[in-house]
Amino acid sequence: MRVLRMSEVDLRGKRVLVRVDFNVPIQNGKIADDTRIRAAVPGIREALAQRARLMVVSHLGRPTEGEFSEKESLAPVARHLSGLLGEDVPLRRDWLDGVSVEPGRAVMLENCRFNKGEKKDDDTLAKRMAALCDVYVNDAFGTAHRAEASTHGIAKYAPLACVGPLMAAEIEALSKALERPVRPLVAIVAGAKVSTKLAVLGALAEKVDRLIPGGGIANTFMLAAGMKVGKSLTESELVGEAKKIAASLRDRGSEVPLPVDVVCAKEVSVTAKAVIKPAGEIDEDDMILDIGPRTAAAFAKRLSEAGTIVWNGPLGVYEFDQFGQGTKAIAEAIAGSGAYSLAGGGETLAAIAKYGVAEGISYISTGGGAFLEFLEGKKLPAIEVLEQRGRP
Ligand code: 3PG
Repeated sequence: MRVLRMSEVDLRGKRVLVRVDFNVPIQNGKIADDTRIRAAVPGIREALAQRARLMVVSHLGRPTEGEFSEKESLAPVARHLSGLLGEDVPLRRDWLDGVSVEPGRAVMLENCRFNKGEKKDDDTLAKRMAALCDVYVNDAFGTAHRAEASTHGIAKYAPLACVGPLMAAEIEALSKALERPVRPLVAIVAGAKVSTKLAVLGALAEKVDRLIPGGGIANTFMLAAGMKVGKSLTESELVGEAKKIAASLRDRGSEVPLPVDVVCAKEVSVTAKAVIKPAGEIDEDDMILDIGPRTAAAFAKRLSEAGTIVWNGPLGVYEFDQFGQGTKAIAEAIAGSGAYSLAGGGETLAAIAKYGVAEGISYISTGGGAFLEFLEGKKLPAIEVLEQRGRP
């Protein structure tokens, strides 16, 4: 790794500012999913064990800069973190002029997006933040695709800048799967729309041995292959792009496997009646809402032969159980395969939790947008700036 790691830095008694991604769902003042918080706890514990004076900072939501808003306050997150650490982590509201922290203790700095200039990566703000610390640690992979003052600018000016253990693990896992995969490399890219994942599909088409599309994305590929899809969700304007992607894989001797049977309904609802049909027998008023059992078995076979699997997106409307069997079968096939498996993205994580397969997956990324941009082959600015600083 071309970046400095926190584990290589002497943090004893130092003022350490750690950027984490605690942008988590909050309902009625309670954290609805604390995966991202728990994932950052090892780094925080490691710094505290070294008796660092720790300042933990994150964004939450997309507030208006320069204005405090209760809704986007990190107060519930600070309380939750205190519970996980078993010690009080007080929240500091105005922190740009500095806060006092004892060695071996942590404070949480209020939502960094309340500061004017955060989103635009303002240099003056970045320098002010950098002046607060001796060591800057970026442990926020989920925000690594954003060049903001607390993820990017600060890394240029802090006396020392490094990655935390979560960021290091994410870079390691994603590089292992995409830059030096054990082949065959199989990617499953599913979800509602081709348009949101076009860049990912295009980039993966160059790398993978098999690209399994799912959900609305598969419908558009089916349309491109001349198959009937009834009134399923599709993007007809992207049929040309889907054809190009399929052709590019074919040219490399690879493939885009399509469903041979599907689960259809006349409406999308919790009470909708699910009917399994061969892929060639879809009626005009049918909507494809999941892959059928024969398709699930065929995909599972391909997954069992894979050396590496990358998974993003559910294969059907898995929120309703009658349309969740395909996603369940694929989740179980991934977890049961001997391949190195990498999964990421909000809905993917929810599906993994629903089907209880987390144990069987080699690495589950905390990134949503950052995960997709990494798959696209883009340089993530928060990582790039640390690479540019190099290793002192
Ligand atoms: C995320 O949840 O994907 C990250 O925290 C980034 O949040 P943002 O899209 O508001 O920048």
